[in-house]
Amino acid sequence: MLAFGRFAVPLVTIFIGIALGHQTPQHETLIDPRTRYPASYTLPVQGFPGLQSNWNPRPDCGEHSYVGHGRLRGRRALITGGDSGMGRAIAIAFAREGADVAFNYLAVEESDARETVSFIRAAGQKAFTIPGDLRNESFCADLVHRAAASLGGLDIVVSHAGYAFEQAYIGNHSTESFEQTLRTNVYAPFFIARAAAPLLPPGSSLIFTASDVAIGGNARLVDYAATKAMLVSFTRSLALQLWPFGIRVNAVAPGGTLTNFLTTQGETTESINGAVSMTPAGRLAQPVEVAPAYVDLAEGINSFASGSVYGANGPTGGF
Ligand SMILES: *[C@@H]1O[C@H](CO)[C@@H](O)[C@H](O)[C@H]1NC(C)=O
Ligand SMILES: *[C@@H]1O[C@H](CO)[C@@H](O)[C@H](O)[C@H]1NC(C)=O
Repeated sequence: MLAFGRFAVPLVTIFIGIALGHQTPQHETLIDPRTRYPASYTLPVQGFPGLQSNWNPRPDCGEHSYVGHGRLRGRRALITGGDSGMGRAIAIAFAREGADVAFNYLAVEESDARETVSFIRAAGQKAFTIPGDLRNESFCADLVHRAAASLGGLDIVVSHAGYAFEQAYIGNHSTESFEQTLRTNVYAPFFIARAAAPLLPPGSSLIFTASDVAIGGNARLVDYAATKAMLVSFTRSLALQLWPFGIRVNAVAPGGTLTNFLTTQGETTESINGAVSMTPAGRLAQPVEVAPAYVDLAEGINSFASGSVYGANGPTGGF
């Protein structure tokens, strides 16, 4: 009797579920942020821009962990820097949420880009690759127009790709390094936003990648931190300017995340493990932990989020 009583409710639920044409909802498992990922890292020895395939173990970009819920069904997204790291995590998350994705990367990152494409297509979505260097003004405009042509329009643009190289002392800071940082992190987002705005319909979403160092500062990343502060200000002003067009403009501010960006900056296995052990969180973010903020900002239901900077940087006292 008791056993029958226990089983009666689930069976009835299943029958009702079948009758109504939907599945019985499943519980989401609680995720403990402290222990979700290990807190020690092995960085590959590589320069700029680096490859995801050089990592062992690899960063988690959601390849086998991100579960979509149809939140971006029918959307058409352009992402810069979508081959690896956070850009790949955003591409995979968007595809699993139902968006078609065009993404950009440098030609030397083609093998990583191929992997991202395979995950987008496995999610049943269209993928388009547009390699090229974002420091090139005409390429940025070209990129936006080619993405819109391939996807049949654009309603999400994520200007994500960035560059940083650590320099401990301004007396040694080269003009070339400073310029590469500014061209990639400031000029390219401007070029992309300028080309995209006329194409974006009301309800679309423009998202930039800022950083926790925009406000907190970083002694070894003075130019990089300044470019991210510019993006925060740019986001807030452009949100005001484009609200009358129905375009929402926001940014995500990640903190330390396990990607090729660390080796580009000049970090090594020793330096990163030493630095991370002193942070309040005690570990870095994995790229897949940053992607949900981009999904939130892209989703139409988030209709009053504009001019916002979403934090995704652990308990560091940042955004
Ligand atoms: C800049 O981009 C344009 C448009 O994609 C391309 O035709 C041109 O060759 C690029 N210039 C350089 C220096 O790569
Ligand atoms: C600046 O560069 C010189 C020459 O490479 C080096 O000896 C010096 O230690 C550097 N200064 C700082 C503060 O990093």
